[in-house]
Amino acid sequence: MSDKIRWGLIGLGVISRKFAKGLAFVPDAEIYAVASRSQEKADAFGAEFGATKCYGNYEDLAKDPNVDVAYIGTPNNYHLPQTLLCLKAGKHVLCEKPFAVNAKEAKAMIDCAREESLFLMDAFWTRYFPAMYKLRELVAEKVIGDVMLVTADFGGRGPVVPEKRHFNPDLAGGAMLDVGSYCIQFASMIYGKPPTDIASQVAIGETGVDELSVLVFKYSDYEMAALTSAIRLTTPHEARVMGTEGYIAIPDFWHPSELTVVRSGQAPELLRFPYEGEGFQFEAIEVGDCIRAGLTESPVYPLDETLTIMETMDRIRADWGMRYPFEQ
Ligand SMILES: NC(=O)c1ccc[n+]([C@@H]2O[C@H](COP(=O)([O-])OP(=O)(O)OC[C@H]3O[C@@H](n4cnc5c(N)ncnc54)[C@H](OP(=O)(O)O)[C@@H]3O)[C@@H](O)[C@H]2O)c1
Repeated sequence: MSDKIRWGLIGLGVISRKFAKGLAFVPDAEIYAVASRSQEKADAFGAEFGATKCYGNYEDLAKDPNVDVAYIGTPNNYHLPQTLLCLKAGKHVLCEKPFAVNAKEAKAMIDCAREESLFLMDAFWTRYFPAMYKLRELVAEKVIGDVMLVTADFGGRGPVVPEKRHFNPDLAGGAMLDVGSYCIQFASMIYGKPPTDIASQVAIGETGVDELSVLVFKYSDYEMAALTSAIRLTTPHEARVMGTEGYIAIPDFWHPSELTVVRSGQAPELLRFPYEGEGFQFEAIEVGDCIRAGLTESPVYPLDETLTIMETMDRIRADWGMRYPFEQ
């Protein structure tokens, strides 16, 4: 491996552009290659971000021996084939969230990475922000006592465009996989285990995907979570972790820059964790650190936890009777 981790970006849409900007804040990383279904698009993106190689298909990037790690930034239903393509070509992989459409797909991806002894990570960038490290530390130190309740909401109202990925069942659309997954992984991070009982309410829209849902998770009698996701409603995007001795509020918890810690009977304490850009550098730094250390998964977000979260989402969709067309 060269001094710098050489990234190859697959699928040059909205999120790959943000990720590419984030890589500019990682000194020991470079965008070595980019790949699009369109050569013209790859050339334009590559020129903008200084990539050495610009491919007009994904396969050629996977075959490039100089790519150390592939970033998969395509719609949800392509994560499985493109992750397998890259792993089988010997590349480490960072795959956008939701990691896969269902647990069966996620398991196939994880099994392949383990067979090939390659690094694989679910790109829940939220986990790697400095504010999240601090939050985990405060919870572990029981600064707010024993956690009894986690709440998190993530919703954004956008135009209904049936062919675009948010509303399109063929692209594994819907609010839960897109944004509810942030809330579910947040609760999983705090409790460190999957819920035993799940109750939910959902509104399935005219394209056949979930547009608004409220999930209630129970982990034990005094450990619960209430999680909201939406693609037809803008919500505040706030998470709260509530314990027997106080609570911690995390505004914009999906890319947090501050925590408010309220210890029972005391004035709120605001902790700030400013960062450069939009914050995509933190997950890229984690990938680089793990690869350099010879790890095949991140200890901050192990693959077994990713799989458990996919199983939880499968269970919820089964309760809703919601299957994607390609799952029939
Ligand atoms: N971490 C985050 O904060 C975050 C934010 C937004 C999205 N995401 C995740 O990132 C993934 C992509 O989201 P996005 O908003 O970037 O999506 P997008 O812009 O609609 O599409 C991403 C790219 O996927 C490629 N693609 C391949 N097959 C496609 C098909 N049949 N239809 C459409 N695009 C196709 C296209 O790249 P080429 O034309 O270059 O081949 C497209 O530009 C999703 O899984 C999403 O959940 C994560």
